[in-house]
Amino acid sequence: MPVVTSNRKLASDVFVLEVEGRFEGQMGQFYMLRGWDDYPLLSRPISIHDIGPNGISFLYRVAGYGTERLARLEAGDSIGLEGPFGNGFPPIDGKVALVGGGMGTAPLLYAAKQLKAADAYLGFSREPFALESFEQAAASVKVNVGGYIVDDLDPSGYDAVFTCGPLPMMRALAKKLEGTGVPLYVSLEKRMACGVGACLVCSCSTKHGNRKVCADGPVFRAEEVELNEEFDVH
Ligand SMILES: Cc1cc2nc3c(=O)[nH]c(=O)nc-3n(C[C@H](O)[C@H](O)[C@H](O)COP(=O)(O)OP(=O)(O)OC[C@H]3O[C@@H](n4cnc5c(N)ncnc54)[C@H](O)[C@@H]3O)c2cc1C
Ligand code: FES
Repeated sequence: MPVVTSNRKLASDVFVLEVEGRFEGQMGQFYMLRGWDDYPLLSRPISIHDIGPNGISFLYRVAGYGTERLARLEAGDSIGLEGPFGNGFPPIDGKVALVGGGMGTAPLLYAAKQLKAADAYLGFSREPFALESFEQAAASVKVNVGGYIVDDLDPSGYDAVFTCGPLPMMRALAKKLEGTGVPLYVSLEKRMACGVGACLVCSCSTKHGNRKVCADGPVFRAEEVELNEEFDVH
């Protein structure tokens, strides 16, 4: 079983968990994590925050029982990890803006690393976190605390925008990009059970019929989906 190398608190209820080993994955994919033997039965989906030659990291917020159990893990503890799952963000030949809100910034660090010259726009309602990692990985970093990060983005000059975060932020971004021709890729969340497309718990409606967020997503073209309460799991 993989072993935890560290589990550091970055802000209130926000932790970065590092696990030793060789791991695979593309930007925007996720792993199913399980740091307990008993209840709850189901693993929890957490995005790839970073992968290096010696390990993988996950940035997470304590939201309930499962993530609270993750927060209790210490260096040397073993952890159940399955993945990578999901489609991830597409490779883009050109300049990409990464727009994240709160915990939605989690998958964007690895995107910044894989894309090399992406600009990061990071919005937080209060305490920001993981900024140093973004400063090392992205071509530029714009941070907005307590305001609207979408206001800081000028879409001209970008070939694509990737986003993850609260629904109102992603909706505002979709509206801003309307008519610009700049494609928007949204990473969506639904409650998950199996994580691999077998149980239909994460089924969602798209313009192309029902899709599974775990296997057909979590990344969709914004115009394929209604950014509505269907994805509001918080
Ligand atoms: C593809 C994907 C990637 C994700 N990546 C990250 C990540 O990188 N970092 C991170 O902190 N969280 C991430 N999440 C959310 C994370 O999976 C949930 O916060 C977690 O499953 C909650 O489990 P829990 O047992 O702690 O809380 P529960 O006790 O199950 O629920 C507590 C609260 O969390 C909400 N919740 C439950 N499931 C989800 C969910 N799937 N998404 C959002 N909120 C949920 C519930 O509605 C409830 O309000 C991701 C979710 C998905 C689907
Ligand atoms: S979580 Fe089972 S099909 Fe997506």
